[in-house]
Amino acid sequence: MTRDEEARAILRGNDRGGYTVPTDGLYPYQWNWDSVFAALGFAEHDMERSWQEIETLFKGQWANGMVPHILFHKVDPSYFPGPDVWQGTGPIASSGISQPPIAGTFVRWLLEMDAGHAARAEALLPKLMDWHRWFMTWRNESGAIVVTHPWETGRDNCPDWDGPFAAIEPEGVEQYYRRDTTHVVEEERPRRWDYDRYLHLVKLGADCGWDEAHLREVTPFRVADPTMSFTLLRSTRDLKALAERFDKDTGEIDGWIVAMEAGAERLWNEEARTYDTYDERAGRHSGVVSNASFLSWYAGVGGDRMLPHLERVCGMEPFFIPSTDPAHPAYEPKRYWRGPVWAMLNMLIAKGLAEQGHGDWAGKITENTRDMIAQNGFAEYFDPRDGAPAGGRNFTWTAAVWLAWASPTTGRSTWAASC
Ligand code: DGY
Repeated sequence: MTRDEEARAILRGNDRGGYTVPTDGLYPYQWNWDSVFAALGFAEHDMERSWQEIETLFKGQWANGMVPHILFHKVDPSYFPGPDVWQGTGPIASSGISQPPIAGTFVRWLLEMDAGHAARAEALLPKLMDWHRWFMTWRNESGAIVVTHPWETGRDNCPDWDGPFAAIEPEGVEQYYRRDTTHVVEEERPRRWDYDRYLHLVKLGADCGWDEAHLREVTPFRVADPTMSFTLLRSTRDLKALAERFDKDTGEIDGWIVAMEAGAERLWNEEARTYDTYDERAGRHSGVVSNASFLSWYAGVGGDRMLPHLERVCGMEPFFIPSTDPAHPAYEPKRYWRGPVWAMLNMLIAKGLAEQGHGDWAGKITENTRDMIAQNGFAEYFDPRDGAPAGGRNFTWTAAVWLAWASPTTGRSTWAASC
């Protein structure tokens, strides 16, 4: 089988009918941004299935606008914590937190590929607006977007959380049994110390019925994050384009863009010359250069401020972009978000670079990711030292970004050509 055929087979194999799981066993439900990447993969050969993926995701939207990070369509004991722990309050059993809002951007890309289904994009627009409004109401700290759980950023165990987590005493967490380490070796997953705190924060939310006003007051974990801030700003710019396309008023959207452009400055760490996380409780930057720092081009902020770090970090290991700066003492090249390369983040970074006039860098990242996947297959993430596959296998988003972007032989979206 060629890699293209294999990627299509992975999407088919992870398809559960209307939604796609990230991979069988380790992640047996619909995850928010995984699903949106899946939609882009399906768009290579099945537009109908592509739109459906996003429409299914929005069926789980809560009354307050939040779109959950996991939808538990069918209970599966191979994953913990499940719906009984989360106690989500939406129309479909779900978690109580969100995930990076890339959907607005991807809906715009799908529409560019498939103008014939404009009505589906138009129907999604008010739902996207409600979701963005939820962020701007509850997660907006002077224009920087905060998370109340590391899982919201997708970067579950990156070193940025070590400081805020050290301040948390994970009280009230009952004995639990992790399932993730039955699927993947422990060295490639978060530590128990992290899991205790993840579950403590889940309990905090579940105990108050995910009341955001209450959580804002009581949670010890409120951290402004580049993944959230940059994907939301980018997606808001794309909502503006969609709104204009459908002759809708853009006043509210314009206000959000102005607020977030200013808020991006709160993530700029002048001392470390990087965008990083900012702990609202402790009033401190993390000082960690991560792959999320390089989403600034994708968000359209900061000019070339991140270029020196990009050049340095990409020169340190054969495969890039590592999720944590290899020069940082917390770098662990095999442990999930503490070092490994994530192909789907590379795609967003390359896209941003290409748009902002750095076709050379976009090309380098594209070729490097292409080689990494061609040599090692469709892993969840990869060791930057040798590209060795790590985490889950047959992974949906790696297959999707291969088809949409990294493969030399597929990629019909207009922007794939620009990278
Ligand atoms: C997990 O369970 O590891 C996920 O990343 C949470 O979303």
